[in-house]
Amino acid sequence: MFAVLKHLFKLQFLIILIAIFAGVYYPEILEKIKSLIFELSITDNEPIAVKFSAEGQPQLFTKETLAKFTGETEDEPIYLSILGSVYDVSKGRKHYGTGCSYSYFAGRDASKSFITGEFEEFDESSDDVITLKPSEVLSLYDWKKFYDKEYTFKGFAVGRFYDNNGAKTIYHYQLDAIADQALEDKKTANQMLEVYPQCNIQWTEKEGTRVWCTNQSGGKTRDWTGVPRKYYEAGKDYRCACIKESDLDSPNLKPYENCDPLSTTCYYKLD
Ligand code: HEM
Repeated sequence: MFAVLKHLFKLQFLIILIAIFAGVYYPEILEKIKSLIFELSITDNEPIAVKFSAEGQPQLFTKETLAKFTGETEDEPIYLSILGSVYDVSKGRKHYGTGCSYSYFAGRDASKSFITGEFEEFDESSDDVITLKPSEVLSLYDWKKFYDKEYTFKGFAVGRFYDNNGAKTIYHYQLDAIADQALEDKKTANQMLEVYPQCNIQWTEKEGTRVWCTNQSGGKTRDWTGVPRKYYEAGKDYRCACIKESDLDSPNLKPYENCDPLSTTCYYKLD
């Protein structure tokens, strides 16, 4: 019996290896494998990445069924969906109830509005968030974390983010990748604040903008002061950073025009 089990484990290992190699070369196969793992996690009732409702199984909501949960009367529940995950937000009735500030979110997935703040017109594109900036996608994932923490997860809205079987769509995987990258970029930007601290910045009508460094600028007390430089972070506009003399050659730094390269203060005007 033990030998048979051992053999089965070996076989399973071999199948997983083949699946991984196939997935690397054929992304469609990888997607299938992902949905299969997801489906297995549902049927076995052993969640991998999914948080299950109190009843044990995630429910699937169509647009029509979700639309029924707007809590029209006091005793009717209110559900909303964000990134395709549906939450019971009835305990936040003062926000989501009929006529309240955020009733727009009730009974639908209006993920984009969490970022745009537009609560007027709901249409087919109101959950289309892939064109948002990566940092905005990350904020949206933070909103989802908020609902995970504060409210009860009920299931998935079938459509853009989850398919008819409750498996993540390719769209969702693409969005996850954008959010992962944005998180990495954010971490790097935070690390760079240690290496290249912020300058002090002041604007006056007479002098325009003044940027300058002290050994405390950017809220980081240090034993060096640095000189102001335009620091270009990947995919972003530049920010003013205080740079140590030994780092001044870095390619993503540019001096301020009309400023002595070693001055701790620079002035510039926006024309
Ligand atoms: C993109 C724009 C915005 C979005 C998507 C948004 C969304 C929300 C949501 C979903 C809630 C309910 C949270 C919960 O369930 O507890 C909320 C609460 C609230 N929002 Fe906003 N909001 C936005 C902008 C604003 C602005 C500009 C203000 C203030 C001028 C504001 C003030 C508040 C206040 C005071 C609460 C209630 C907090 C509480 O009682 O716990 N929101 N917001």
